[in-house]
Amino acid sequence: MKFIHISDIHLVSNDGPLNGSFPSERLEKCLDDILKWHADAEFCVISGDLSEFAEKEAYQWLKNRLQEFPIPFFLMIGNHDDRDLFQTVFPDNQSDQNNFVQTSIETREAIFLFLDTKKQGKNVHDGELCEKRLAWLKRQLIDAGAKQTYLFMHHPPFEIGIPYMDKIRLFGAEQFLSSLLHGENIRHIFFGHVHRTTFVKWHGYTFSSLTSLNHQSPLVAESVEGEFCDEPPAYGVVLIDGEQLTVHFNNYLDRKPLHQTQPDNAL
Ligand SMILES: [Fe+2]
Repeated sequence: MKFIHISDIHLVSNDGPLNGSFPSERLEKCLDDILKWHADAEFCVISGDLSEFAEKEAYQWLKNRLQEFPIPFFLMIGNHDDRDLFQTVFPDNQSDQNNFVQTSIETREAIFLFLDTKKQGKNVHDGELCEKRLAWLKRQLIDAGAKQTYLFMHHPPFEIGIPYMDKIRLFGAEQFLSSLLHGENIRHIFFGHVHRTTFVKWHGYTFSSLTSLNHQSPLVAESVEGEFCDEPPAYGVVLIDGEQLTVHFNNYLDRKPLHQTQPDNAL
């Protein structure tokens, strides 16, 4: 099976710019590219930071845009989002019994768990999984049994060596790790938040993240002027085939026409 992982789209109202790019335009081009090349995907997931400023207009724009998209979308929230406002605009997006934006889906191949790591409060950017959310996770993992299970979360539970990101990671990593022990067959964990492509192995579990659709975190802060850098955005094309998981990071804006004349040293 194939599915699409997108993260950190950071929409702003009125199609406005943000950090040198236009988030709605980046998303439009991403959706066009998915439809053109990966219309056979079973679903798409956006792992949080749907909006930059948690504006109702930005959520409404997203809702309208996705309503006409033929592949099902699952939406998660991140530190830039507002849970209550999100649920007002997206009342059909499933939540758990405690009203956190957590849900699970099951396909023929696997179970997918979408977690809500947003910490309560305005202008709070680090993440948490409170006892209620961890209890939901444990229950889902127990119910999944031996079936292949994949998790999605906005905040990672570890440092990645970028200080300003590490300060706003998911705290309570030990409790999260204990919850994972209830899973018999956790195959991989996808996350967002860091605005970079990473692969991490943590306590035996593998994780991957991908770039934002809009602005990226420089690996070395001093290497660019300002807080963010302009590396290309990507969406993930994920293939599950029996015992194999393949994650492609698709830099969809870099579609250059083939050169008329190939240079001598062409690959
Ligand atoms: Fe973000």
